[in-house]
Amino acid sequence: MSQGKTYVVTGGAGFIGSNIAEALRRRGDRVRVLDNFSTGRRENLAAIGDVELIEGDLRDPQAVRRAVSGADGVFHQAALRSVPRSVDDPLSSNDVNVSGTLVLLMACREAKVRRVVYASSSSVYGDDPALPKVETLATRPISPYAVSKLAAEHYCQTFARLYGLETVSLRYFNVFGPRQNPESKYSAVIPRFLELALQGRALEVHGDGEQSRDFTYIDNVVGGNLLAMETPGVSGEVFNIACGTRHSLIAIADAIGDFLGRRLVREHVASRAGDVRHTLADISKAERLLGYRPSVDFADGMRRTCEYFVARFGAASEAGRRAAARP
Ligand SMILES: NC(=O)c1ccc[n+]([C@@H]2O[C@H](COP(=O)([O-])OP(=O)(O)OC[C@H]3O[C@@H](n4cnc5c(N)ncnc54)[C@H](O)[C@@H]3O)[C@@H](O)[C@H]2O)c1
Repeated sequence: MSQGKTYVVTGGAGFIGSNIAEALRRRGDRVRVLDNFSTGRRENLAAIGDVELIEGDLRDPQAVRRAVSGADGVFHQAALRSVPRSVDDPLSSNDVNVSGTLVLLMACREAKVRRVVYASSSSVYGDDPALPKVETLATRPISPYAVSKLAAEHYCQTFARLYGLETVSLRYFNVFGPRQNPESKYSAVIPRFLELALQGRALEVHGDGEQSRDFTYIDNVVGGNLLAMETPGVSGEVFNIACGTRHSLIAIADAIGDFLGRRLVREHVASRAGDVRHTLADISKAERLLGYRPSVDFADGMRRTCEYFVARFGAASEAGRRAAARP
């Protein structure tokens, strides 16, 4: 691994970006974060230590130029995440995820950045029932979010081909772990379930809860990013980054209940528009070309995540839960 380089993490105040930034700092690289704090949090940066912050918007060419100037590489994590958010407001998702990525790629080309590693998404595979998802499958996005993530992937590949800016796209499959935000109506299922469980409230399960995902612990995604930045000869490629196992929402609820040592009440509500039924990744391409191996499996990842949430939110929530349970 390289030492002492300068890397930009767009969306570095968010869940995945802050974990990448922390790993880079730990190995001695300089880190510059570009974030507008729309969903990211200052406390995520405070937890990492010495990073240079450029508070600005991905769609602002001046801020982006300032951020990438002199950088060796860019980990592009900034986006408006969430399928339901994009169903509610497709224009904003397109604006940030597609136009923002284009602004970034143009600035990187101009500044002669060596490589951009882009956070794509398993959602690009859409509702094709074929499992596992392999990178050669046709993409069939079924939400504005998935369309935006795929469009930006195409821009990355086009910039590699047209201008020689190295780009690598990583299709993440449902990432989870410390610093994932539970506090929004668009939050992902594991932090949301954990928050509800710690507050003693019923877990809101969309549909029958048998839908499944290739849930991927954050350390695996961070590792995949570092490899994608370092590995020669993979510019223009797309890789699945996941664990290669799938687990239902019911299994998540059970794992949290087991950890907390109590039975959790579930409340089933309507399925969500734009959601796919199952995801499962074929990770052999990343294993072969990047040397990627998931280092933390689902069970271990769930345990670490539960420990983090209990330490962070547990005490206050537990008091609330007891109060709520009092007759
Ligand atoms: N979390 C997952 O399971 C998952 C799965 C697939 C892909 N991804 C992708 O990974 C990336 C990171 O996701 P995350 O879960 O960490 O989300 P997050 O919301 O925690 O982080 C996104 C960050 O981007 C910043 N941001 C948003 N719009 C911006 C803008 N216009 N200008 C500057 N900064 C902006 C936010 O403030 C936030 O800090 C996203 O690109 C997302 O599409 C995530």
